[in-house]
Amino acid sequence: MNTKARTWFRAFSTASLLTLSVVLPVHHAQADEPGPVEPIEFNPALAELGKRLFFDPRLSGDTELSCASCHQPDKGFTDGQALSDAYAGNLHFRNVPTLINSAKRAAWFHDGRIGTNLNDVTRESITETYSMNMDMRLMQERLKQDPVYVEMFAAAGLGEPSNGGVRKAIPEYLKTLISRGAPFDTGEMSQDAKDGYVIFKAKGCNSCHSGERFTDDKPHNIGVPENPEIWSTPERHITFVAMMKFLGLENYMNVRQDPGAYIRTHQPETYGGFITPTLRELTHTAPYMHNGTMETLADVVAFYNEGGGDDPNKDPRLKPLGLSEWEQRKLVAFLESLSGDPLTGPEFVVEEIDTDYEPIENWLEAVN
Ligand code: HEC
Ligand code: HEC
Repeated sequence: MNTKARTWFRAFSTASLLTLSVVLPVHHAQADEPGPVEPIEFNPALAELGKRLFFDPRLSGDTELSCASCHQPDKGFTDGQALSDAYAGNLHFRNVPTLINSAKRAAWFHDGRIGTNLNDVTRESITETYSMNMDMRLMQERLKQDPVYVEMFAAAGLGEPSNGGVRKAIPEYLKTLISRGAPFDTGEMSQDAKDGYVIFKAKGCNSCHSGERFTDDKPHNIGVPENPEIWSTPERHITFVAMMKFLGLENYMNVRQDPGAYIRTHQPETYGGFITPTLRELTHTAPYMHNGTMETLADVVAFYNEGGGDDPNKDPRLKPLGLSEWEQRKLVAFLESLSGDPLTGPEFVVEEIDTDYEPIENWLEAVN
């Protein structure tokens, strides 16, 4: 980050911290209570470029899909479906996770198979056939044609448009997607939500859903039932088969269960484990779980009340909770209090991308 941007950001974050400390209820100031999600420093010019790229369908092979086709701002950067779409001719076998606060994760995707950085997640999202199916070399040439990108890449200190630059800029934009304004943080929780928080802690939900994002970023098996759609829809099943073959799953043609974290570890006890999702922004991100099998938060809480699902690898912490209907509603009210302002303003969203420029003539001979 250049010095100017850093100074600007420091000034900004100091100012907002001062405001926050006035608004925050006292109990968050106490140790070990999770507080609001801390903002991350970012480079504004790089994030601005990343934002335009995120909303640009020219990043997909057939120019039909942008990142935002599946990660829609008004749905907490998910798509509202149980199972995700994919590049034309394919469908996915997983639920779209929120991207809010995802720059803070320690591992990405429901199985945690990318544990390095968002640069790698961005590459995978652009190039894989089940996502945007784009050749990075073609993408780079497309971007060089657009004078707006030529200017924005230079302004962000990246030189001319390049695939490496795209993989730096999009993660920088993702850093701007941080939760804000949740009643849990602003001291505006209802009495039900407060009671629900007591239940949440008493029942040990926070042993996995811990910290400011309410996740330990680790895989656990809670016994979520399979989504039969995956196995009955050929376009989904084939995506599963292709990915599992590539990742080295034994017997991938006959498997009818999502192996989850096993794909990374190949340790049998991790079969069917999925990375703990954040509990922030849940009111915007239904349906729930890695395969979208639970439609409402009431369904999720009822599932936990039964002690979770049925699986030989199920985490021993999951036991029937014995909560009354009334207590379950309070737990739901608490979960709802972790959702904040939708990130749908112009600082997060590009409504329209102007592609009204003349193609460069004689492209093969043009120097760029
Ligand atoms: C066709 C739909 C689709 C498109 C397009 C798409 N994604 Fe995703 N994204 C998904 C799905 C589905 C997952 C979860 C995949 C899994 O767990 O295997 C995901 C996961 C992610 C994650 C990990 C989040 C987490 O908490 O683990 C990030 C980050 C992400 N996508 C960013 C992007 C970016 C950046 C782009 C554009 C370059 C993009 N996605 C394009 C569907 C899509
Ligand atoms: C052993 C660790 C663990 C405990 C304890 C636990 N969870 Fe979870 N939770 C998970 C995992 C892992 C998932 C994702 C499972 C999947 O996708 O298949 C999850 C998913 C969820 C979801 C769905 C989020 C989404 O975006 O899909 C909610 C809501 C939730 N848990 C709430 C709770 C509540 C409330 C409790 C206490 C009653 C609780 N959890 C206890 C690990 C845990």
